[in-house]
Amino acid sequence: MFQKPYFIGIDSSTTATKALLADARGEVIAVAATEYPFETPKPLWSEQDPALWWDGACKSIRAVLEKAGVPGEDVAAIGLTGQMHGLVLLDETGRVLRPAILWNDQRTQAQCDQIHERIGIENFIRITGNKSLTGFTASKVLWVRQHEPDVYAKVRHILLPKDYVRFCMTGEYAMDKADGAGTVLMDLKNRTWSEEILEKLEIPQDWMPPLYEGTQITGAITAEAAQATGLKVGAPVVAGGGDQAAQAVGVGAVKEGIVALTLGTSGVVFATTNSAFIEPEGRLHAFCHSVPGKWHLMGVMLSAAGSLRWYHDTFAPDLDYDTLLAPAADIPAGSDGLIFLPYLTGERTPHPDPLARGAFVGITVRHEKAHFTRAVLEGVAFGLKDSFDLMKTAGLSNIDQVRVSGGGARSKLWQQILADVFNAELVTVNTTEGAAYGAALLAGVGAGTWSSVDEACQQSIRITGTVKPSQDVGTYDKIGPLYRDLYPALKPTFHKLS
Ligand code: XUL
Repeated sequence: MFQKPYFIGIDSSTTATKALLADARGEVIAVAATEYPFETPKPLWSEQDPALWWDGACKSIRAVLEKAGVPGEDVAAIGLTGQMHGLVLLDETGRVLRPAILWNDQRTQAQCDQIHERIGIENFIRITGNKSLTGFTASKVLWVRQHEPDVYAKVRHILLPKDYVRFCMTGEYAMDKADGAGTVLMDLKNRTWSEEILEKLEIPQDWMPPLYEGTQITGAITAEAAQATGLKVGAPVVAGGGDQAAQAVGVGAVKEGIVALTLGTSGVVFATTNSAFIEPEGRLHAFCHSVPGKWHLMGVMLSAAGSLRWYHDTFAPDLDYDTLLAPAADIPAGSDGLIFLPYLTGERTPHPDPLARGAFVGITVRHEKAHFTRAVLEGVAFGLKDSFDLMKTAGLSNIDQVRVSGGGARSKLWQQILADVFNAELVTVNTTEGAAYGAALLAGVGAGTWSSVDEACQQSIRITGTVKPSQDVGTYDKIGPLYRDLYPALKPTFHKLS
């Protein structure tokens, strides 16, 4: 039997908006998702119509309530999460002015350079915790100002994707601090908008919404939104967080010492910090956490399980993943000297380079298909290890647990390779619904069912398995430096090829 009150987490990702219904013990009652496309109208561009997120939220909320047989009145609070960094521009009446420019859009390198020039790169990292990267929001604002002045002249509000859903639900302009930090317009340490950055970039501060901690209530369901979703008028909508922070909550990575390793299309290494910890050269992302008063460091690899999907679809489309991966378990660690570079869609951490490319290096006639398969798994693990090592060299010394999740983590072989490459014990947890689940827990804390995010996680999330490093650690220790030498060596070639 499920226990009331119930909570809904909404995740507006790049490919779908998902609604997850959870109960007061953190049990998942039902999940529903509405898929949609995104557009790439020009090379390097990636855009999406914000109406898709709201339409997807309405459909998924109705579907999840129907699936569970739960009336909307029983939902005590809603928490929001979604793809980070996407620029949503609204006019003074709240009308969307152009398609959102998404996190995976790469058109703004010139604007990133201008930002660093105007503010000074060291000063920018000191204030925001990060370099301005093409994925982040700030450079997108400058791009619209320079390329679409007519649109820019009408802008009165800037939101991120899930905050547009919030606006449709509550009529309020509001943003959580975890996602807000990913605009790189915030003063990371003080968890506020940075007057200095906004002023120097000539972005009016009153375009930016009020900022909230992840568990704070930001508004309530309006009559119109109740009509559209089936939720009750007045139900509180909690701030939530960007998808990575909410994902971390969803696997219980909410305390310093616990690292979340997520193997989705992209791969993420996420570490909670008790202070605004910054990697001095801005090679790791440093954002606020959706846990009030906490921060996090994060490395993002753009093609993690995405590399395996590409390899499967290109070379073995007729095999299921288990059949494809099984022979790779019999290949020795190191794939007999075959190394894969996973930069298939450019890279972010530790090489912020949209022009980086993938490669197989060291092929001989002795290599068979299973070597290539194993090399893909190992290359992704080495790429993620780069972020893990950066965290350690940045001074995060007390990492005592790595929680692995995401589609790729279902492979036992990949889990073992990660444990060996990282030379760390990995654990798996009982929750698999990621960010939407984290958003539901944040809603539960906001509604007062749990007194803190930590308590919500303690009561809902259990460790289900452990993977210890094996004797292969030594081999990977030797190959790691060879892997690391390859990107600098090949970078000039990658750039010329592009
Ligand atoms: C994080 C990031 C992605 C997006 C899309 O920095 O860019 O995780 O949030 O999921």
